[in-house]
Amino acid sequence: MGNLWISNLGELASPLGSGPLGGRRQGEVSRRHGVEVLCRDGRIEAIGSPPEVAAAAAHVGDIERLDAGGGTLVPGFVDPHTHLPWAGDRSAEFAQRLAGRSYLEIAAAGGGILSTVAATRDASESEIRANVTRRLDRMLEWGTTTCEAKSGYGLELEAELKQLRALAAAAADHPVDVVATLLAAHETPAEHRADPERYLDLVCSEIVPAAAAEGLARYCDVFCERGVFSAAQSRRVLEAGLEHGLRPRLHADEFADSHGAELAADLGALTADHLMAVSDRGIEALAASTTIAGLLPGTSFFLKTRLYAPARRLIDAGIPVTLATDCNPGSSHTESLPMIFWLAVLELDMTVEETLTAITLNAACSLELGDEVGTIEAGKQADFVLLEGASLDNLAYHFGVHPITVVVKRGTVAYRKAEAER
Ligand code: NIG
Ligand code: FE
Repeated sequence: MGNLWISNLGELASPLGSGPLGGRRQGEVSRRHGVEVLCRDGRIEAIGSPPEVAAAAAHVGDIERLDAGGGTLVPGFVDPHTHLPWAGDRSAEFAQRLAGRSYLEIAAAGGGILSTVAATRDASESEIRANVTRRLDRMLEWGTTTCEAKSGYGLELEAELKQLRALAAAAADHPVDVVATLLAAHETPAEHRADPERYLDLVCSEIVPAAAAEGLARYCDVFCERGVFSAAQSRRVLEAGLEHGLRPRLHADEFADSHGAELAADLGALTADHLMAVSDRGIEALAASTTIAGLLPGTSFFLKTRLYAPARRLIDAGIPVTLATDCNPGSSHTESLPMIFWLAVLELDMTVEETLTAITLNAACSLELGDEVGTIEAGKQADFVLLEGASLDNLAYHFGVHPITVVVKRGTVAYRKAEAER
C-alpha cells in the first residue's frame, strides 16, 4: 500500500537536494528533532510536527503506523558499487592471503578473479540468481534499499549475459532496486591471455552491443589498473559503451596510479572508484569534472594493505565522495554499508555527516537517481533506515553491531528486526 506514518523519532538526519554534495557541503546534513514523517503511495507526503503530520494524514486513507521507539531515521542506503552475480567462493585463497601471499600474486598465478570466472561459467543462471537474492537479502537487512551491481565474472558473451539476466531476475523479485553495469573488461580471460586486444575486440564488438540491445545494463565499467587494462584500453571499451548508450563508471587507480581518474574525468564518467593510488593530477582532473569519487575502504581493510584512499584531500578539493561495499568474493566480501560507514569514519577521517551523504545522496546521484532517492524530503520515494539510538552519532559510536531496527522501501516495511534480537 505504501501509506506509512512514522512517529516517536529521536532524530531525522538527511542531506538535502537532488544533486551531489562536494567539499564543505558534503557535511551539511539536516538533523531535526520532534518531527514525524507521513508517506503516501510509497512517496514522502509530509515531514513536520505531530499536529502538522496529523493534519496531512487526515487526507490519506488507510495508514500503517510505525512507532520509531526513539530511534534515528535516515534515508535508505544506496550502495553504488557491488559485484553480486557470481558463484563459488574464494575462502582457500583468503587463507593464503592470511598466510602472507598478496592479492596480486594470487591473481598473477591464475587465481583471483579468474577462479571466480571458472565457477561462474560453470553455474546455471538460476544458481547465480539464488546467490544474488541471498546477497540482496543481506544488503536489505543492513539498510541498503538501492544498489548498483556489475557483471565481470563471465568474460565471454554468453556468461556475461547469463550474469546480467540472473541479476535482473533476482532484482525483479526483490525490494532492493538494482541498477546493472556491464563489466566485461574486468580481466582478460585465460583463453585470450596471449592477445588481450583480441578479447577487447570481442567486448567492444559483441558483448557491449548485446548487453545494451537486451537492456541488461545501464552502465559500462572497466578495471583500469597496471597489469589489467591500461587507460588507453579502458578508453576504448568505455567509448564503445557510450556508443551503445551505456555511460561509464571506472575501477581506477586501486593499486597503482594508472591515470584512471584522469580518464574517468575526461569521459564524464559517473564515478572513478577505488583511488587509493590516485595522483595529484588525478585529483585535479576530478575536481574540474562532474565525476564523483567512489571510495571502497572495504578493500583496503580486507586486503590488509592498510592503504586507504585520500578521502580528506578529495573532499577538500570539492569533489563529491561516495562510499560503497564493492561486495565481491576476492577483495571485499561484505554486503554491509554500516561496516563501510565505520571504516570511513575511523580510517578515512570522514565526519559522520559526510559519510551519511556519501552512502545516500551522493551514491544516488552517481546512479542518476538523485531526484528519486537519497534524501528524506517531500516528493521523494519513501526509502528509510531506522537506526537504533536517538542520534545519528550512535551509528559511528557503537560499531560492529547490527544497528538497524526497520528498513522501509517505498513506504512499506521491508525488514524488521525480530523483537528477541533488539
Ligand atoms: O573491485 N578491483 C577489481 N575488481 C574487484 C575485485 C574482484 C575480485 O577479486 O573478484 C574490486 O576490488
Ligand atoms: Fe569493484
